[in-house]
Order: sequence, then structure tokens, then C-alpha cells
Amino acid sequence: MKNIAFLTSGGDCSGMNACIRAIVKTALANNIKPFAIRNGFKGLIENDIVEFSSEDVNNIIQLGGTIIGSARCKEFLDKSFREIAINNLKALSIDGLIVVGGDGTFKGASILSNEMDIPVVGIPGTIDNDIYGTDFSLGYDTAINVAVEAIDKIRDTANSHKRIFFVELMGRNSGNIALNVAIASGAESVLIPENITSVENLAEQIKLQNKGKRGSIIIVAEGDDAGGAIEIMNKVKPYLESYDLKASVLGHIQRGGSPTAFDRIMASEMGLTAVNCLLSGKSQIMLCYNGVKVDSISLLEGVNNKKVVFTEEKQKILKKMLTVN
Ligand code: F6P
Repeated sequence: MKNIAFLTSGGDCSGMNACIRAIVKTALANNIKPFAIRNGFKGLIENDIVEFSSEDVNNIIQLGGTIIGSARCKEFLDKSFREIAINNLKALSIDGLIVVGGDGTFKGASILSNEMDIPVVGIPGTIDNDIYGTDFSLGYDTAINVAVEAIDKIRDTANSHKRIFFVELMGRNSGNIALNVAIASGAESVLIPENITSVENLAEQIKLQNKGKRGSIIIVAEGDDAGGAIEIMNKVKPYLESYDLKASVLGHIQRGGSPTAFDRIMASEMGLTAVNCLLSGKSQIMLCYNGVKVDSISLLEGVNNKKVVFTEEKQKILKKMLTVN
């Protein structure tokens, strides 16, 4: 393996830069030339591909967005454009491709990998965290932290003015952000696309939940069947005439900002692992970050054993990470 290419595609997310950095540094440490494809699959079709050096990825671990750009590329659904993309990869003698993105990106990558003999590895990167097989995707942790911070602020003013706030969070098809942000911000209600919303029930629920309180927060995932925050607020208004209702749409603020430490670490581990997977001949795979759940063991087991923080697995990763720094 001599040359690998990488791209970020779909909605950008924090952690993509940390991932790019790890890919480039790991490739260089293994004497492989890393090539950045700008603007996702669009850049692959347009042959917007440049070789990266370690200088290109200096000082980017803390940056939100993606320094190589991203795009949603409809042309990629068309075979004739994918053929152009494959020829562009072949012309540069690319031996492996890493794609970072969400479900649309993975669908594109999966189709592409069936049409060419270049190995492909996918890294989940989407604030929606709605990709099957992985507990976490890049950008999700940052996005929910951004949202929780904003909602804490909205709560201050809601309580001061005795108001009910409808706060819209991202998630066209998924209530994942909304659900966990609702838990973390102590929201009174949450509306998600996966559940049917009854406006009348919601109004009743708000009356009950708001009793004895100065304010309430109702989280609305943008893809809810009853509409966005503003629409839902207007729909419940006739049932809640004596209440002061306000709506706030957080929007793309959730997609930006410096990645959390969690996202940076996951991105670094995944970038490194993706290159290693290509080196060991793996293809047509996506990386997963799994295993976070509430479980139980006996108290005795807990006190009689010593926690190994520096596991063999972690040691291996860290050793490689430090040598590529
Ligand atoms: O990337 C995921 C996401 O942020 C969704 O939560 C949201 O519905 C969508 O992208 C917005 O996409 P765009 O920025 O292209 O309008």
C-alpha cells in the first residue's frame, strides 16, 4: 500500500479534523502518502485531490468543521459520475479510501466499493449519531454538549419570566440528539420523529408539568411529525392561552465548535485504526465505538479488584498515537 485517500462528506461535525490529523499522521508514519479529497464525493468527481503533509494537519485537533470541506453530492447516485470518481482514484494510484460521514456517506461508499477494487473503510461522523452498529459517531458528543449549554441559558431566562420555551434541536429523521439533550438538561418534555405527537396531549402535559414551576423546556427534534418548535408552539397556543410561550431554534450552532475531549479521542483512535485496517487488508468495513452502558457487578467484586485503566488495547493505540505525533 503506497497511497491512501480520505474525504469528509455529508453534514460536517466536530471531530472530523482530529480524525483527518490521525489519518495523515498514521499514514506518514507507515510511509504511505495521504491524499485529501476536498468537499466529499463532489471533490472525488471533480478530481479535487491534494497530497497532504504533516504540516497540513498541525494545529487542527481543536478545530470544528472540516478543513478539507464537505458536501452533499446528489450526482454520486449516478453511476456515470461514480465511474469518473473511480478513474480519478486510479489515476493517482490510490490503494485505499477512508470516508468520514453519516448514513448517506456510507451508502455512497458502499455502492462505490462494490464497483471498484480499492478497499474502503468508513468512519462514522454525524451529530445525529443514527448509524447502525456504533454507539457513538464523531460530533455527537460535542453537539449535545453545545445544546445542553444553550438550554441551560434558555432555562435561566425561562424561569426569570415564567415562560415555556420550545427549543428545536437538529435531527431530521432521528430523535437521538433531542432525547439525550432532554435528559441532560432536565427538560419537561421531548418530541421526536420516532413518536407520534398529539398536540392536545402535549398541551395537557405542559399544564401538569409546569405546575409549581417558573418555567418549562420542551425539546423538539426538527423532524417531529407535528412540525418544528415554532409550528408546535403555534399549535398548542390555543390550549395554553394563559401561558407565555416562546420558541428558539438552535440550528447549525450544534454542528460547530471545538470538539469535546471525547470526540477528539474517538476521532484520533478511529483515524489511526482506519489506516491500520487498510494496511491489514480489511475492506468494506465501518468502524464502531461501542460498549458504553449501565451494567452491574457485586460490590465485593468491585472492591476486591483493581481497575486496569491502561488496558493492553489502549496501550497499543496510545503507543502508536504517540509515535505518530
Ligand atoms: O448532519 C446531520 C444534520 O445536521 C441533521 O441533524 C440536520 O437535519 C441536517 O444535517 C441539516 O443539513 P444541512 O446542513 O445540509 O441543511
